[in-house]
Amino acid sequence: MAGHQEREHDVLVIGAGGAGLRAAIEAAAAGASVGLVCKSLLGKAHTVMAEGGVAAALGNVDERDNWRVHFADTMRGGQYLNNWRMAEVHAKEAPDRVRELEAWGALMDRTPDGKMNQRNFGGHAYPRLAHVGDRTGLEMLRTLQDHGVHQGMDVYMEYTVTALLMDGERVAGAFAYDRERGRFTVFKAGAVIMATGGIGRAFKITSNSWEYTGDGHSLAYDAGADLMDMEFIQFHPTGMVWPPSVRGILVTEGVRGEGGILTNSEGHRFMFDDIPEMYKDQTADTPEEGWRYIIGDRDARRPPELLTRDHVARMIVREVKEGRGSPHGGVFLDISWIKEHIKNAPEHIKKKLPSMYHQFKELAELDITEQRMEVGPTTHYVMGGIRVDADTQMSTVPGLFAAGECAAGLHGANRLGGNSLSDLLVFGKRAGEYAANFAAERSAPTIDAGQIEAMSREALAPLERQDGPGASPGASAGADGPYQIQFALQELMQDKAGIIRDEEGLSEALEGVLALKAKGERVSVNGSREFNPGWHTALDLKCLFMVAEASVRAAAMRKESRGAHSRVDYPDKDPELGKVITILSKGPDGEMQSRREPIPEMRDDLKRIIEEQG
Ligand code: FUM
Repeated sequence: MAGHQEREHDVLVIGAGGAGLRAAIEAAAAGASVGLVCKSLLGKAHTVMAEGGVAAALGNVDERDNWRVHFADTMRGGQYLNNWRMAEVHAKEAPDRVRELEAWGALMDRTPDGKMNQRNFGGHAYPRLAHVGDRTGLEMLRTLQDHGVHQGMDVYMEYTVTALLMDGERVAGAFAYDRERGRFTVFKAGAVIMATGGIGRAFKITSNSWEYTGDGHSLAYDAGADLMDMEFIQFHPTGMVWPPSVRGILVTEGVRGEGGILTNSEGHRFMFDDIPEMYKDQTADTPEEGWRYIIGDRDARRPPELLTRDHVARMIVREVKEGRGSPHGGVFLDISWIKEHIKNAPEHIKKKLPSMYHQFKELAELDITEQRMEVGPTTHYVMGGIRVDADTQMSTVPGLFAAGECAAGLHGANRLGGNSLSDLLVFGKRAGEYAANFAAERSAPTIDAGQIEAMSREALAPLERQDGPGASPGASAGADGPYQIQFALQELMQDKAGIIRDEEGLSEALEGVLALKAKGERVSVNGSREFNPGWHTALDLKCLFMVAEASVRAAAMRKESRGAHSRVDYPDKDPELGKVITILSKGPDGEMQSRREPIPEMRDDLKRIIEEQG
């Protein structure tokens, strides 16, 4: 058997973005010994891609805002599939979590009278996103990191977890390898928190970096946890489309929040062409009215560029498909036009959107204070994930908790921008607190040696296999090496299970995913365990196939269009499907099982809030 080292903690947090850090801080503050495992370096996380702000009803810019409006906006944005208790907890607790972050040193932008400034974002009734220019996620991560390292926790950088360890029904730890040397580590833990983020690398065009291969989803599923809402994948409307090497990199919604407009090749502001019924009363009829809203006239209605992401992304796809796109297959996003209304507009833009200014200058040789950007949808976020209890964040597996993007429930069929950062603060804190309690109230679990042996064998298999696809010399670069299998999966998911879906495409996607999975299970890689990216990619494939299969199966089951799930063969909402969620779990023979479950009846006081807010 391959050797391993052992580490023991009360609480093990897997994933060190915002959710993982916030959870680790809370667990450590509760007196637990905490291990924090990151797949790459501490501070490198998708949290930084939530650039434009953190949503919290502080009411600093518009005093009409409060948790009730935020709750109603979140439910409407999620098309009422949200876990309403999570939406309530989130809206109520987000302001305190943001203020706390500021007390820990986050340097937020201010209003002229010294309060935390808040900006407009899609689907939020009032300016609600507290921000730091367009680097909000980065500042949050920096703050959490600084605060966290002083709480006393052990950080394991560049460790990838390949399996969870169990003690009967209960989670007991995790099995991991380190990227540098390929050595194995067994982490024993009284409770485990999954905070691994999303699944963007299952698609070709994405804002996610290499780490986001659905690890938490897959590890939890293998350990017996339920997944839910996996059909709902958010395609952020504005990613870069040119040059090809930067395709998919995020262009923050903050650009539209500061007045950016979307136009097609004919110069037409196409977002005015189709306003969804549920937002008609809030959306401007004229550009002038929309602009008045941006500069602070609270009686004016919002510009249509600030409709929810699912709708904006679909509108962009329509323009491109119908031949009115930009030269490189997107549409135009223009913030420079505000010079018609604002003195010193270039300075204003650079101050409000410094990263966007530099990103386009450096990557596309384009000055956004003078020129239009070319943008198109990019896979950004998965609403689906590990099913958790709304209050404790524990999954259906005892001792296994989840927070942030890899957990599901809060966002329903579509997430509002900025709700990801508040989500990870609110539920990261809760996961840390309840995981620490769980571990403290029970004796330490035990792990039998057989499990560890099986895990080492599975992890080493691609290096030891001689006959699988890619087994020839130079295999990891060959026709059937792990990279090629990953690229093929990304192409397939982008084409057949992306932003617009239908029955035929989804069944081709399922067939393709299963065929690639069979190939992936036999893949061989060359080289040793020492820093071997081909081997790491081969191990990531298992997670990618699991999340791809789950999202395709869930998408095929939902025969309607709702939120981020859009089917040309079922273009309307089905009222009956608006009452159910899709659950996926591992069957007794290892096969994926899917079922529907009714959404529990909402409490009357919350129903009243939704009625009042319209
Ligand atoms: O556009 C953005 O700044 C992204 C924010 C988010 O995904 O929450």
